[in-house]
Amino acid sequence: MLSIHFEPGQKLYVQVYEKMRDAIVQGFFPAESQLPSYRTFADHLGVSINTVKHAYQQLMDEGYIVAKERQGFFVDKIQLNLMPQAQETLPDLLKEPNDEEKGWLYDFSPTQVDLTKLARTSLAQCAHEGMLQSQSISAPANGGERALKNEIALYLYKFRGVTTSAQNIVITRGFENNLIVLDQLWDHPIYGIEDPGYPFSQMKILYDKHSIQRIPIDQYGFSVKDLERSPANIALVTPNHQFPSGIMMGIRRRQRLLKWAQEDPTRFIIEDDYDSVYKYSGHPIVALKSMDQTDQVILSGSFSKILGKFMKISYLVLPDRLLDLYHERERIKLTPSIFSQLTLARFMQEGYLDKHISRMNTYYRKKQKVILDLLRTQEGVEVINSDAGLYLVIRLDRTLWDFDRIESLAEAQRFMIHSLARYHSGKNYQDHFMIGLGGVPLDQLERGLSEWFCLLEAVKVKP
Ligand SMILES: Cc1ncc(COP(=O)(O)O)c(C=O)c1O
Repeated sequence: MLSIHFEPGQKLYVQVYEKMRDAIVQGFFPAESQLPSYRTFADHLGVSINTVKHAYQQLMDEGYIVAKERQGFFVDKIQLNLMPQAQETLPDLLKEPNDEEKGWLYDFSPTQVDLTKLARTSLAQCAHEGMLQSQSISAPANGGERALKNEIALYLYKFRGVTTSAQNIVITRGFENNLIVLDQLWDHPIYGIEDPGYPFSQMKILYDKHSIQRIPIDQYGFSVKDLERSPANIALVTPNHQFPSGIMMGIRRRQRLLKWAQEDPTRFIIEDDYDSVYKYSGHPIVALKSMDQTDQVILSGSFSKILGKFMKISYLVLPDRLLDLYHERERIKLTPSIFSQLTLARFMQEGYLDKHISRMNTYYRKKQKVILDLLRTQEGVEVINSDAGLYLVIRLDRTLWDFDRIESLAEAQRFMIHSLARYHSGKNYQDHFMIGLGGVPLDQLERGLSEWFCLLEAVKVKP
């Protein structure tokens, strides 16, 4: 009969249950074999009958054993080869990460956001109010909470030059969700996307279902000439700060793009307006949507670059003529929790978001200056775009470095600096690099970047 060495501090019946369960799984008690009666087993273990009863009940509830009337308890017919193997090691998430897994020494990736200046106390207050308000709401509103939609409409007017109304706004949980919402609206979409452009992982939901046309980028941004020659009917663009090249699309190119849409009412432009509230010199860039007279531009926006990803709130501005279709075809609810929507709405109503954007423009400008000053001291570096958004783009002299080795060398030393090649279908642009403003603290920027250049000495081409 099974013996058990009881550990202090854990309920006896749980220990009996676990030992019995393991013994069954390991074949110690084969299928259909009879288990000892309550009393015999309790006497053998030196525990009360109730302890054994409890343990057997648990085993019965989970289907390991069955009770047969007037006969006792029997092991059920379990297929042992289908049982999960006992884990000998802790799952990874319980382990302490070692140094290498702890993250980057310097994270210059373009997606990081600096949250050191976030007014946390104000946000906490808004969260408190958001929680109280959301408790009184019994069902989520269609496409997002009205209070937040109103605030987004005001925000778009103030910061992006766009006039729209709350009823055109749909609130979601991120850019990919925006794509899911939109993809339900078209019967035969052929998407034209920028190349270099989004990483494949972000576009997977479209690639899985559709054929995608990659449209090149030239010095003015998205090449509308190539779009016109393609069968695409939906253009997905980042005109305000092309991702990843950083190019701002000028007025002529914008007009040509809008004209492409106007030539066919079934064409649409999705304007991904992801980080353009940041502008370090000259005028703020207004959204393409503000020039859209035929209502064929869909604005896709996000708060990720302002407040970080922890809230994960994004939105769409839908043209009037897509609204009915949206309500008809919406199959999955992609709205964030009412609590987070109302928290953000409150944060905006109180003017904290405006203040944060203004504070961060000043702060990122400071960071941008530190980087530009450092870059000026380096040989073979040209700054391509640095005036807007959350990253700068530089080009390194092709003749000076071995570009096949730069990224891997830097990664091995825990420097995260992306080359544009990872965003290009043909892996061109190896000599272009993005330097993010968000991930490295101000006082470490100069050192981090200098160390990166020192590292690059190892892959310098010998004359
Ligand atoms: C090009 C681009 N578009 C959109 C987004 C916004 O994504 P999300 O709202 O899912 O955070 C990002 C964020 O990193 C981005 O880099």
